[in-house]
Amino acid sequence: MQYEEFRKAGHNLIDYITDYLQQSQNKPLFNNVEPSFLNELFDESIPNHPQSLDAIQKILEQKLLPYCTNVNHPGYMGLITPSPNPAGILGDLLAAALNQNLGAYTIGPSATAMELRVIRWLNDLIGYDEKAGGNLTSGGMMANFIGLKLARDFTTGDVAQHEGIQGKWAVYVSEERHVSIDKSVDAIGLGRNALRALPTDDKFQLKINALEETIAKDKRDSIKPLCIIGLAGTTNLGAVDDLEALHQIAVREKCWFHVDAAYGGGMLLSEKNKNLLKGLHLADSVTIDPHKWFYAPLDCGAVLVKDHDQLTRSFGIQHAYLTDRSNNERYQFYVHGFEQSKRFRSLKVWMSFQHYGKDKIGEWVDDNVAQAMHLHNLACNSKDFESATQPMMSAICIRYKNENLSNEELTKLHRDVAARIEKEGQFWFATTELKGKTWFRINPVNINTTIETMDKLFATLQEYCGEFLILK
Ligand SMILES: Cc1ncc(COP(=O)(O)O)c(C=O)c1O
Repeated sequence: MQYEEFRKAGHNLIDYITDYLQQSQNKPLFNNVEPSFLNELFDESIPNHPQSLDAIQKILEQKLLPYCTNVNHPGYMGLITPSPNPAGILGDLLAAALNQNLGAYTIGPSATAMELRVIRWLNDLIGYDEKAGGNLTSGGMMANFIGLKLARDFTTGDVAQHEGIQGKWAVYVSEERHVSIDKSVDAIGLGRNALRALPTDDKFQLKINALEETIAKDKRDSIKPLCIIGLAGTTNLGAVDDLEALHQIAVREKCWFHVDAAYGGGMLLSEKNKNLLKGLHLADSVTIDPHKWFYAPLDCGAVLVKDHDQLTRSFGIQHAYLTDRSNNERYQFYVHGFEQSKRFRSLKVWMSFQHYGKDKIGEWVDDNVAQAMHLHNLACNSKDFESATQPMMSAICIRYKNENLSNEELTKLHRDVAARIEKEGQFWFATTELKGKTWFRINPVNINTTIETMDKLFATLQEYCGEFLILK
């Protein structure tokens, strides 16, 4: 390998990335081309003519970069993918070069220590004691899956992992859950019908009486509670369930209590909005995604576990060729988690905390919360808009209201306006359904968004929703 070429191309690439980040607000946010156009662009056979790294960068500038979603743009307020912090970007670059494999200690001794430290920091933020453990994952999906597997193994006395599921069990969560919960309930062998998606109140929190009634009915039908899941930051609205009440019920029913704080975990860094996740430390396991509201580049999710030993009981299979007989203090992630080959995910999170400090990242979180609150106030002060509920975090759902339009027409209005805005490339957000209505789902997890961005967004929404009526 020509390392001098690598050095030169690497410097060029860092220059390029710096310009890209600095100028992100001047570039379109979303280039709305047909998927077939992109597939054709990459319709190429395996290259067999070596090219210089510089030449390859030029190709990327033409074929890849113009069609990337510009999540660094201040108007990106979409599905929960952050503008990545620059220190974290460097962390991932270094992680690729070192290529430590966190599955086994011998392929990453210092990386293992760093990974354990970052997991410890997350456990400290939750308020777990020294018995806690955890694992960094590809994201919230895998963290929720591991949480549910731990639940299955704990509640069945570690029988299910050997014998399979015996008897009937149910998992309880609010209707506002992320789809990863449905997939996890399926994947641990219960079947999706074992998931009880329960109604929420006007703050979109799980109704405790609905939970009690459903558990009582299930028990009459010989169906036992396997796990209660609390949501600490719903995907649509950042709503937080009553974690203390859910914990009490889980203790009474002798089942596992998992909390999905994949997005909401960022609030643990907040100075202005402390205590929102009251009771989080009572959970048996918690999902937090640093690649959401800690502004770490993808990928880095985390499952944090109050009793580390349950991880070992659930995953502790050792094979002869992997068993390290030299020193049993060497921590082996593979006997405490699913993954064998495992990316060095902690480095970018460690570098982010080292470079900015926890409080600074918390300020970004608080800024995003203030931006959502500002938009909520704009909507509430306008006769034409409503907000689903006062945002607790940075996720907010607002909608245009007009008594002369049917529900179907309003759904079309919201989808058409969102599509028009996507096409123009100044903002990106999603639409969603809540309690039978369609909403604009707006969610800044973005270091570059400001209050002014929200003002501009709201002015655009007002204008385009009004124009939809004229064009109708
Ligand atoms: C509450 C919640 N849980 C889990 C997930 C899944 O996380 P990931 O996309 O990192 O797998 C999401 C994703 O948005 C989420 O909002």
